[in-house]
Formats: sequence, C-alpha cells, structure tokens
Amino acid sequence: MENIKSYIEENKDRFLEELFGLIRIPSVSSRKENKPDMHKAAEYIRKSLLDAGADMAEVISTDGHPVLYAEKIIDPALPVVMVYGHYDVQPAEPLDLWKSPPFEPEIREGKIWGRGADDDKGQLFMHVYAFEYMVKTGTLPCNVKFMVEGEEEIGSPSLVKFCHANKEKLKCDVIIVSDTSMIGPDVPSITTGLRGLSYVEVEVRGPNRDLHSGLYGGAVANPVNVLARMIASLTDENNRVTIPGFYDDVLEASPLERKEMAKAPFDIEQYKKDIDVDELSGEEGYSTMERTGIRPSLDVNGIWGGYTEEGAKTILPAKACAKISMRLVPNQSPEKIDNLFIKHFESIAPPGVRVSARVLHGGEGYVSPVDHPAYLAASRAYEKTFGKKPVPFRSGGSIPIISRFEKVLGVKSILMGFGLESDAIHSPNENYPLGNFYKGIETIPLFYSYYTKKPE
Ligand code: BES
Ligand code: MN
Ligand code: MN
Repeated sequence: MENIKSYIEENKDRFLEELFGLIRIPSVSSRKENKPDMHKAAEYIRKSLLDAGADMAEVISTDGHPVLYAEKIIDPALPVVMVYGHYDVQPAEPLDLWKSPPFEPEIREGKIWGRGADDDKGQLFMHVYAFEYMVKTGTLPCNVKFMVEGEEEIGSPSLVKFCHANKEKLKCDVIIVSDTSMIGPDVPSITTGLRGLSYVEVEVRGPNRDLHSGLYGGAVANPVNVLARMIASLTDENNRVTIPGFYDDVLEASPLERKEMAKAPFDIEQYKKDIDVDELSGEEGYSTMERTGIRPSLDVNGIWGGYTEEGAKTILPAKACAKISMRLVPNQSPEKIDNLFIKHFESIAPPGVRVSARVLHGGEGYVSPVDHPAYLAASRAYEKTFGKKPVPFRSGGSIPIISRFEKVLGVKSILMGFGLESDAIHSPNENYPLGNFYKGIETIPLFYSYYTKKPE
C-alpha cells in the first residue's frame, strides 16, 4: 500500500462495487416518484464517507432533497478543502436506447455504464477513495469537508439557502469540484469557465379548443405555426440571438485571449464524428471552442403542441409550448436575460394569440483564476499523473451553484473534472472510462499535497 497506484490496484473491485451500489439508486431529482431514492443516495454516501475516515457525516433535510455534509478536521490551524458534488442524476429516458439498463451498472469495453457513471456519481467517488487513501496512509495534509447535494440537475434551489444559513460550517479555503470534462482522453485539461443559464417555458394560446382545420384553417391563427415562426426569429442568419440587449453585458475576449484559447488541442473532426454531423453551425465569426466557451447561445430543448399520435388528425391546435434555454457567459445576468427574453417574446406575438412565459431556473456563469494557488496545485497534479501540463479551457456547460459559492461563501472553486465529452452525460448509455476514474483517484491526493506544501 506504499503508493496510490498499488492502493487502487488492490482495492479497485471494492471501489467499483461501492460505486455500483450508488448508481443502482435511481436518484432522479426531477421526479416525484424518486423522492425516497434521494434520501437513500444521501444516506449511502454518508456511510461511504464514514467508512473512508470522516469524523462525522450527516444527511441534512431541506425543503427539497437532502444535502450530505461530512468533515474531517485534523488540525483547525490547517487549511480546509471542501469537495462539492451532486448525487442526483438526469432522467434516463428514452430507456430503449440503452444497451444495458441505466440503473444496473456494468463494465464493458473498459468503461462503467449507467446513469450517473460520470455525472456525477463516478466523479464524486474518486474523491471518496482519494480521501480514504490519504486517511489510511496518514498523508491527509489538511482538513476536508464534503458537501454533496441532490438538486444540481434542477438548479440547486435548496443549496443556495443552505449556504446562506451555514456560512460558518462551510468555511473553507477552496472548493474542489469534479463535475466537468477534459478536452480529450490524452489532453489533460482543467475547466476554467462555466456558462450561466437562463431557462424559460413559453406558451402560445389561440382558440379555446382544438378546431377542425378544414372549417377554421386559414382564418384563425394557428399557435403551432405562430410559435415556430416566433422561435425561428429568435436567431438570425448569422446565428446571432435577436433579443434586443442580449449581448450588452457580454465581455468580448481580447485578440490575445482568443489566440491563447485557440492553442487548446481541440480535435474538430473527432467532435463531429462523435455526434455524427457533417457540418458544425454557430455564431458567425467564432470558432467552435469559442462558440461554447465564451459566447452565449439559445436553444429550444423541447417543443410540443397539437396532434402527435399515430396517423393524421385534422386539427388547428389550441396551444403550443416550448422549453427554451439560453447559455450565458460571465457578466451576463440570468435575471436580466429572463426579463429581456420575456419582454421580447411578448412583443413579437402576432394578433390572434396570447403568449405567456415563465422562468424555470438559471444561474450565473463562472471563471476560475489560473493564478489561484489551488489552480496551480491542480495543474501540477495533472501534469504529474498525465505527463503533460493541463490546458486551461472554458466549458460550455453550467453548474449554477459555483458562482453562488463565490458570492455567498466568498470562496473560489477549482474544476478538477476527469470526464470526457464521449461519456454521454444526460444521454442514453452514459459511461465513465475506468482509466479516467482511476486517474482521478490518483491525481486528487497529489493536489492536496501540492496545495498544502510550499512550492520547492
Ligand atoms: N456536470 C454538469 C455540467 C458540466 C458537464 C459542465 C460537463 C461542464 C462539462 C451538470 O451536472 C449539468 O448537467 N448542469 C446543467 C445545469 C443545470 C442547472 C440543469 C447543464 O449544464 O445543463
Ligand atoms: Mn454534474
Ligand atoms: Mn448533469
């Protein structure tokens, strides 16, 4: 057990069996029927952290799903690292597209398959085992806290309140999060930016009931036709968002920053191949990495209305709906964007329909500093285990609670993710390569060591 590699080798079967136990709990935060599973998952992690060596671990009730908090304080004079993660997962549907059932994890082709294998159960458990290793070998160099929530996938409503109410308990020097991905399997990289999010649901109402499309078609505004036209007008021919004021607060990256960003070894052909598209599409004048990293975007996530069952039914539907998300960049305020969107959407409604919009959730973007001692320690740790200096890059995804940590707790987060874009998070057949899981467990203790020791 003299080093982490042999520790992993000796214990990997147990690690996987324990992680599988967590993946088997269908902790889908958006589903009422899974409410008991949320508690089970939090309880499962509580036990794992106690086994790994935490002094205390508790499942704390909230208005929503419980928060798991644990800590090991070895010396109050030493720094405190807080690990954040989430035990909730996205729904697994459509189930028929999974090669093995989402909540019956298995290993195939050197990967763990199952909902949450990467996002975020697999990535969270790397921290549990890295922590266990440091405790068992007496090499834990500082205090550790764990805060694991069950509502990340629904916008963390309860954790915001929890942070406000528990500032003292959550006091720490830095927050470490493994819930992001790397540019590629051989391209160690550390996420330095997350996009914000503004998410709205819209409804267009027309007549008081579905009408006969022969008797009324052509004479009454059709809400589905209208919604389609309204949505189409939200972006222009250059794929820019047309909502007035949408880009006002976007910080433009300087030519130098853009030049630095372009150095990231991003394989565009592989990116297209992975998702099976021949051509990429996005805002004119920006590269793909820039389009997801430093530019905002607008996407319809779902749209419905009218008759969608078997065969043809001749109706003019009474209403049409859509869920629309806007990814934001740092300095754009989600509340401001929500308001601009709603005002604009209402203003473009043609006569004959009534339009309403409501905000579902959202949050601000985040940028992590590349000169922070914890970033530098993370960078050294990746360099040691991957043999290459990691590339800093801005991800297009969102973890809205991260900017709140900064605002409410006054603490920076470092995004030490080990996922891959091909892990299919949120999609059928989510997976996490064993190599990444083990690399994470290997890299984390080095981070602790570099973070707490003065550089030689
Ligand atoms: N772990 C992801 C976010 C992520 C993944 C960031 C990969 C960067 C790289 C997180 O669980 C997630 O899915 N977030 C949601 C936001 C939430 C409010 C629904 C997202 O980005 O859609
Ligand atoms: Mn996640
Ligand atoms: Mn997610």
